[in-house]
Amino acid sequence: MTQHTDHEYAGHDSTKATTTESGAPRESDAHSLSVGADGPLLLHDVALVEKLARFDRERVPERSPHAKGSGAFGELEITADVSKYTKADFLQPGKKTPMLARFSTVAGELGSPDSWRDVRGFALKFYTEEGNFDMVGNNTPVFFVRDPMKFPDFIHSQKRLPDSGLRSNNMQWDFWSLSPESAHQVSYLMGPRGLPKSWRHMNGYSSHTYMWVNAEGEKFWVQYHFHTDQGVENMSNEEAGRMAGEDADMHRRDLFDAIERGDYPSWTFSVQIMPYEEAKDYRFNPFDLTKTWSKKDYPLIEVGKFTLNENPSNHFAQIEQAAFSPSNTVPGTGLSPDKMLLGRVFSYPDAQRNRIGTNFNQLPVNAPVTKTNSYDKEGQMQYHHSGNAPVYAPNSYGRSYQDEQGPVDNGWESDGELVRSAYSLHSEDDDFGQAHTLVREVYTEEERQGLIETVVGGLSDGVEEPVLSNAIQYWKNIDAEVGAAIEAKVKG
Ligand code: HEM
Repeated sequence: MTQHTDHEYAGHDSTKATTTESGAPRESDAHSLSVGADGPLLLHDVALVEKLARFDRERVPERSPHAKGSGAFGELEITADVSKYTKADFLQPGKKTPMLARFSTVAGELGSPDSWRDVRGFALKFYTEEGNFDMVGNNTPVFFVRDPMKFPDFIHSQKRLPDSGLRSNNMQWDFWSLSPESAHQVSYLMGPRGLPKSWRHMNGYSSHTYMWVNAEGEKFWVQYHFHTDQGVENMSNEEAGRMAGEDADMHRRDLFDAIERGDYPSWTFSVQIMPYEEAKDYRFNPFDLTKTWSKKDYPLIEVGKFTLNENPSNHFAQIEQAAFSPSNTVPGTGLSPDKMLLGRVFSYPDAQRNRIGTNFNQLPVNAPVTKTNSYDKEGQMQYHHSGNAPVYAPNSYGRSYQDEQGPVDNGWESDGELVRSAYSLHSEDDDFGQAHTLVREVYTEEERQGLIETVVGGLSDGVEEPVLSNAIQYWKNIDAEVGAAIEAKVKG
């Protein structure tokens, strides 16, 4: 029997005549079969029926958040020696690993303008020799909420009203002002980084704390940072508003064009490392996603660089159908007690089984370079299979299975009653402290004035009581002066 390669089966050869999907010659790509030139069409025009039926099914559901985006392929190169922190093969000195990156906005739908003020997704997939490792982060080092139970509500508040289908400042500020843990991330979003000039000009962060494990079994907590080698550049509100009309795809176009002309963007990859035991007493709870670790406490350690040097040859197959997930870890890496992260590792593959199909990992863009070997089977669109090998484990017929027992090497200890609760507070934990530092000590006076203008613009556009007063109080809690300035402008 002939073995079809992906190319023979699904490819397109412009030198050959077109065929139906079952491989027979097509009579026409231009004319349907009718009873006489002006007569009715015929159900048995298989080519027409197939063409329309396939057209009807061209869209897969867009990603629930992060629908609008694009990306490119590239390579990660490790230039330093971090083997004392992790045994992961792809992080060893000199190692080069092929990869895919996808950048996105969060709230906008497919087709929405790239220049809307929003957090940007920063998703990386590394095709390592030990399986795929995905780093699914954002261009901000923190997030709006700290418990996965609130994530769907947060996204609903950023999307559209149930009746008019319009976006709503009132809904956004209602959610934020009643969720004080959002203050740090909202201060980022309303500042200059809410409008990156392009994806090439923004940084990426894991935001979460993850785990690294070295060859001796020692564990470390780690946060990933990717600093753009193009330099951080942002847009003004005016420029972003204008570009939404002039070129809604400006960021997608910028990345594609840069790679097309050989101007390959790159990012320097660094980590912050926290010794395992120090998490217990660190001044901020290191697993709280609304907090950063001070770089004075845990300085950046440079690890390597990634470069994007190859555009997708087919946006749908390689970007739309790409499936990134923080659940894709490899030996020497792991998760952490961050509740958001633990919620995410369920949510992504689940979304992808729905969005793309049960066997989404068999698509070339998602498939690991290692051969997979599992007892998971069948489902829609299965392509790879195990022939007639045993489909259950354990078995007496030679098909291997694993049965490691005892503590896992990338785990952590935990005990206590089952509770619904916020994190335990560390000595400097509160909702507004780090937001205040960002607004007062990190932003320049000009950036702070820009933030005030942006917030005033939002609050003056459809925000009603009591949301307005709650939002003003929220800003006073972040910074008394900034809050008072916002109040004066909104109410004045
Ligand atoms: C996309 C869920 C928090 C970054 C998605 C998708 C889901 C999701 C369902 C669509 C996946 C797909 O269809 O392929 C969640 C949940 C969260 C959460 C339940 C919290 C509990 C976060 C956080 C970050 C993040 C904290 C960043 C640090 C992203 C990115 C994408 C994405 C970058 C787009 C990935 C791509 O380019 O395909 N999220 N998310 N998410 N999320 Fe989250």
